[in-house]
Amino acid sequence: MTSRSAKKQPARKRTTKKQKPTTKRAAGKRRAATSTNNAKPQLYASLVVQLLSLLKGEHDFIANAANFSALLFNSLPNVNWAGFYFLQGEELVLGPFQGNPACVRIPLGQGVCGVAAQQLETIIVPNVHEFPGHIACDVASNSEIVVPLFDGERLLGVLDLDSPTIGRFDDQDAEGLNELVTVFVAHEERIDV
Ligand code: SME
Repeated sequence: MTSRSAKKQPARKRTTKKQKPTTKRAAGKRRAATSTNNAKPQLYASLVVQLLSLLKGEHDFIANAANFSALLFNSLPNVNWAGFYFLQGEELVLGPFQGNPACVRIPLGQGVCGVAAQQLETIIVPNVHEFPGHIACDVASNSEIVVPLFDGERLLGVLDLDSPTIGRFDDQDAEGLNELVTVFVAHEERIDV
């Protein structure tokens, strides 16, 4: 484990990679879900406020990551796993999470988490059964989103969310979760991973 001061995440260009919808109907549904509904942005705005309140006065990185994962797990609908994997050398190691017990080590480039960490970008997987190399930790999971965490330019790890609902995550989730992880990392003074 290493320690270093947290720097604000730079205005890094965030990219999001999406698995292509398998049908035109699915594509249409995804567009409709992202363009006409303001509920998700409002939910994420409220989560930013709640996260800041949870973090206030506390700078233990692991404790804060644990509360952050509990906040997401209990506030976001249709989520069966929410938590962190932190980078150690060439692999991701399980961090604080909520949900069923999960695989502990994921090599870079493997699974959705390892690919997101290697490519340094958010990945939305509408159907995990169509993602080559997906690592199944919970048989209930059907869709997934993985968001990388950065301390400045350094990759700290990833935030991973699973859902039993196909197509659960979209660009609004990617945007909201990226904002939340930015708030989280910017708050920390010492990052002990
Ligand atoms: N499905 C992930 C593994 C972690 S679990 O979902 C908690 C992956 O493919 O990387």
